[in-house]
Amino acid sequence: MCSVKILGIETSCDETSVALVENGRKILAEKISTQIEIHKQYGGVVPEIASRNHLQLLPFVTQAVLAEVKTGVEDVDAVAVTYGPGLVGALLVGLSYAKALAYAAKIPLIGVHHIKGHIAANYLRFPELVPPFLSLVVSGGHTSILLVNDYCDIVCLGKTIDDAAGEAYDKVARTLGYEYPGGPMIDKFARKGRGDAIDFPRIMLQEGSLDFSFSGLKSAVLNYLNSMKMKNEAICPEDVSASFQEALLDVLCAKIDLAAQKTGQKKIALSGGVASNSRLRERMAELAAEKGYRLYIPEPKYCTDNAAMIAAQAYYELMDGNISDIYLNAVASLPL
Ligand code: KG4
Ligand code: ZN
Repeated sequence: MCSVKILGIETSCDETSVALVENGRKILAEKISTQIEIHKQYGGVVPEIASRNHLQLLPFVTQAVLAEVKTGVEDVDAVAVTYGPGLVGALLVGLSYAKALAYAAKIPLIGVHHIKGHIAANYLRFPELVPPFLSLVVSGGHTSILLVNDYCDIVCLGKTIDDAAGEAYDKVARTLGYEYPGGPMIDKFARKGRGDAIDFPRIMLQEGSLDFSFSGLKSAVLNYLNSMKMKNEAICPEDVSASFQEALLDVLCAKIDLAAQKTGQKKIALSGGVASNSRLRERMAELAAEKGYRLYIPEPKYCTDNAAMIAAQAYYELMDGNISDIYLNAVASLPL
């Protein structure tokens, strides 16, 4: 089998990441430089600051990755880059840099959809995983159930009509006074709380729908906290975290189960930042054992944004002949 080495670049949010991946499956070198500490003081990602940091970091991160494998860009077969969805300024930094590299080295440029990248994170861990399979992408910006018919033929079966799951985690955490990003904090505190302490709503939408809505759950938690404050009653943050989380996970589990029944798919691949949640991983493993599904989840490091997943998807885009031109633009809201 010949070796196709793709250099992936990811700058859609607050991670500056570059990776060299062989044949879509094997990471040869990678770096993920997170800006979390910088954005923490503002309680969330500040787009302009994210762009400026990507601009400063990207050349160094790229050089470090190539140096690790003693490779020059001339030994790379293609440059892949996230071109959407994401923060448009942040995307533009990565895209412009990728274009310059590809042009100078006379190698193909491959624009990758961020969600397709998240799905591909599973190819890095599971060499045996091949389409078709079902995918649940749960991140700060997305909550979608997708049918992966083939590597580049992906159909969205349902998605959030308001907040993404990670967004709900982050907003509830912020109200509880936890620092950004709130998801990992709720994960941690919920371990010490009771998931049945407070009865928060499980919003399923119309019968049979694979769409999600989390804004009602988020508001219910905020209303609960406000009413407790008005009554001068003490709240237990651990119980609030655990009860919020169980309500959200009940919906995620019910919908992915429904999608499996509707499509007849038995293989389920999770991805996105929220897929690193310890309770989600437990709940999905229980569901899979009960219903006979085969579950795939990337290591936590590859659930959140990283460039290896972008290079992994790019390999299959290249095999399908999906090469971008120099006029490729960054798109903040990019449909699949
Ligand atoms: O995939 P990602 O890095 O960026 C997007 O594409 O959005 O996901 C970031 C999101 C944030 O909302 C963060 O709070 C959430 O993933 N997250 C978690 C956990 N780790 C990260 N949510 C719940 N539990 C976690 N352990
Ligand atoms: Zn992401």
